[in-house]
Amino acid sequence: MRHYKIAAIPADGIGPEVIDAGVEVLEALAQRDGDLKFDITTFDWGSDYYKKHGEMMPANGPEQLKPFDAIYFGAVGAPDVPDHITLWGLRLPICQGFDQYANVRPTKILPGIKSPLRDCEPGDLDWVIVRENSEGEYSGVGGRAHRGLPEEVATEVAIFTRVGVERIMRYAFKLAQSRPRKLLTVVTKSNAQRHGMVMWDEIAAEVSQDFPDVTWDKMLVDAMTVRMTLNPKSLDTIVATNLHADILSDLAGALAGSLGVAPTGNIDPEGRYPSMFEPIHGSAFDITGKGIANPVATFWTAAQMLDYLGEGEAAARLMTAVEQVCADGVLTPDVGGTATTKEVTAAVIAAISGRNS
Ligand code: NAI
Ligand code: MG
Repeated sequence: MRHYKIAAIPADGIGPEVIDAGVEVLEALAQRDGDLKFDITTFDWGSDYYKKHGEMMPANGPEQLKPFDAIYFGAVGAPDVPDHITLWGLRLPICQGFDQYANVRPTKILPGIKSPLRDCEPGDLDWVIVRENSEGEYSGVGGRAHRGLPEEVATEVAIFTRVGVERIMRYAFKLAQSRPRKLLTVVTKSNAQRHGMVMWDEIAAEVSQDFPDVTWDKMLVDAMTVRMTLNPKSLDTIVATNLHADILSDLAGALAGSLGVAPTGNIDPEGRYPSMFEPIHGSAFDITGKGIANPVATFWTAAQMLDYLGEGEAAARLMTAVEQVCADGVLTPDVGGTATTKEVTAAVIAAISGRNS
């Protein structure tokens, strides 16, 4: 029996709705396989926990997560808790504490889902954005002085280290090399930011020497938004800093039809700690509790998790099921349908089990 220990952290808003759906789908995959088992432990951390205990998770939270093979995460964010508390209290300590330095965000237009771009069809926008996930603009370095006074100052310092840039660059080149087009675009802003970003460019050129079969080019982040919109088929694998890739991947999600379908993996490529898989979207207060959250991003990230665990066949089975259900038009309102979260989930489970929905 192949047996995996998964920590589920549904957290806030629609997080529990989509993680419940994801857990059902994982169970269906295990059942279908017969020789696969998931041992799923759910943690009640998040904004409600914060309101009761004054912290988003217990101080030894990361310690509790260490023995798991992977973490399946919903979303954080509540209307009555400041965003920097929810983010820095739960998601970022896990990403940074477990050195999940590669944030991997695949995009593709799924069948049945319409891109806002005119000439794009299902299968197009087949990109993977690799986001540096451990330093850069989100390193948390900075401070505030003279709070509330007219002379108040705040600094937010971006940290780029040779080790940090080189390892993400290597990861991106390797990933590009593993994909059919072997094409990598390195995004920076080295015209305006002439220290850290110039170092990125230099390290990209150095690392490229070890990947002679990968074709690569450089883009400035502002021009990149234009290229993604006007010439999207010229792109395949993309690597960028923490902030730049954060923004570009929201754009990628929107161009692919909805944030509700966009997944992400926070990966420790060295496998020292559990990696964490989550939908890109947030807690979506506007639709929480309505039963219409799109679970597809959460299913897709489960497929990423399965791939990461070495369960490529189960991952492929899951994605085939998701694509079939989308093609059949079983879609939530954010992608133009009328189905509920539960209906989409039931259809995916039926497709996995080989039953007709
Ligand atoms: P959001 O991603 O929660 O929602 C943006 C829009 O997309 C909303 O209209 C929402 O209804 C829609 N949407 C998102 N996911 C959807 C899904 N699965 N199905 C259907 N529609 C979906 O971003 P927003 O509104 O900026 O942030 C809300 C809260 O989430 C904030 O507190 C924010 O800090 C937090 N957040 C957390 C993230 C995380 O946990 N990784 C990421 C982004 C935001
Ligand atoms: Mg974001």
